[in-house]
Amino acid sequence: MLRRSSEHQPSSGPTLSQRRCWIVLTHANPPQPPRISFPLYPCFILMGMSGTADKTFYLETFGCQMNVHDSEKVIGTLLQQGYRQVPTVEEAGLILYNTCSIRDKAEQKVFHRLADYKKLQAQGKKFGVLGCVAQQEGEKIFERAPHVSMVCGSASYRNLPEMLVQIEAGKRSTGLDDRATDHCFETEYTARTNPHRGYITIIEGCDKFCAYCVVPFTRGKERSRTSSSVLAEARQLADLGYTEIQLLGQNVNSYRDPNGKKTFAELLAAMGEVAGIRRVRFTTSHPRDFGRDIVHVIDSVPTLCDHVHLPVQSGSTRVLDAMQRLYTRYEYLERIAWIHAAQRDLSITTDLIVGFPGETERDFEQTLSLLDEVGYDSAFTFKYSPRPNTPALRLDDAIPDSEKARRLAVLNEKQKQISTRRNKRHLGQTITVMVEGKNAARGQWIGRTSQIKVLNFAVPEGMELKTGSYVDVRVTASFPNSLAGEMV
Ligand code: 5AD
Ligand code: SF4
Repeated sequence: MLRRSSEHQPSSGPTLSQRRCWIVLTHANPPQPPRISFPLYPCFILMGMSGTADKTFYLETFGCQMNVHDSEKVIGTLLQQGYRQVPTVEEAGLILYNTCSIRDKAEQKVFHRLADYKKLQAQGKKFGVLGCVAQQEGEKIFERAPHVSMVCGSASYRNLPEMLVQIEAGKRSTGLDDRATDHCFETEYTARTNPHRGYITIIEGCDKFCAYCVVPFTRGKERSRTSSSVLAEARQLADLGYTEIQLLGQNVNSYRDPNGKKTFAELLAAMGEVAGIRRVRFTTSHPRDFGRDIVHVIDSVPTLCDHVHLPVQSGSTRVLDAMQRLYTRYEYLERIAWIHAAQRDLSITTDLIVGFPGETERDFEQTLSLLDEVGYDSAFTFKYSPRPNTPALRLDDAIPDSEKARRLAVLNEKQKQISTRRNKRHLGQTITVMVEGKNAARGQWIGRTSQIKVLNFAVPEGMELKTGSYVDVRVTASFPNSLAGEMV
């Protein structure tokens, strides 16, 4: 089950696991057997599934959609190595945390988890820390949590099979050296947890070095996969019955096909034309690299979703400059004008940070006025959190936490009003949704619109729907974070 981390405070809009929101992957219920796709080498299917059943692992994922998808690949790798996934720490021989260090709270959560389960070491259980905290803290993790035996950053996942052999032999193992790698983690073993929506990483790492952000230090430099490999994976997913594809990257707009065949917009168009695929999403975009060709391609390829997530971070050019975001408020609004000029009604969502060092009341007011000017459908809002290694650490004029909290509350309230207004425009419309599940308590089905909004709906008495199917729903009510309606 995908659950949002408590730290993340979307002010409105999609309560989604599919978007680039910060979430925790937990198994509140025993997990469904993961659906294994072997995109390129089907001959490994039998080998992968025939492993011994006595090696067990539990994996919990923190953080963004990239981490969730990395975990799908890590799980696939472990299954291929003969491990079996179990739903609880108690049942597992190997306990893994795929970690996030984007904000301090996310990082602390991992150390709390490690402390909570330390006593299980006496039963011979082994612990591994993967992902961004692993890369950031490195071998210091062994000092802070001596019961950990494996530390592996995301750029070293290719080495996992050898690392597993080492820890099985009772040794410690680290994979931290590959931040300068040119390779992506392409694996033929991906344990996909959603049978309808498939995630495909097209670019890893980030070269932008925004002043507040730890990602370039934890995920390494930008490297893109070839468009032919990405398209081959999409076709494999379509053959397996997937109808929605989400392209992932820290900055998908700076995608550069190593074979020089396709721009990002051309890749989007080609994705949208893969037979069997009904919806294509992409996240995350960087305004500096967001070209008008992306809006044109959305307009011309019907399977590309009616949604753009374009993080702005601040409405003040002065703060954007201090954040090293490489665009001004004016330039950002230029991109928004392109999106508003699209022939399709596109929803626009964003990320915002309040309380960046030196942010004045006037700067903050500019962020508030930007919300009005853009009219976001929803926004993910955060208090600035100082991160190791980042340039912003050297800036003076830290904003007190109480003031950050006040600004966050004001921002969220404003966005709530805007989202409420934006959602009202759907009243009376008939919208196609992908069925995501049922809320038995409410007797409602849960659907997702192309604009990435949640649309809860009623069906005729006794009717059952299949998750992953598409149905038309007439919108009869709207709220700040969702819509409601009746199946047509
Ligand atoms: N403090 C607060 N928010 C941050 N983000 C990234 N780094 C920080 C930080 N140090 C937010 C940005 C980004 C989103 C994924 O997380 O808004 O777009
Ligand atoms: Fe971080 Fe900026 Fe890169 Fe996004 S673009 S991952 S905020 S450095």
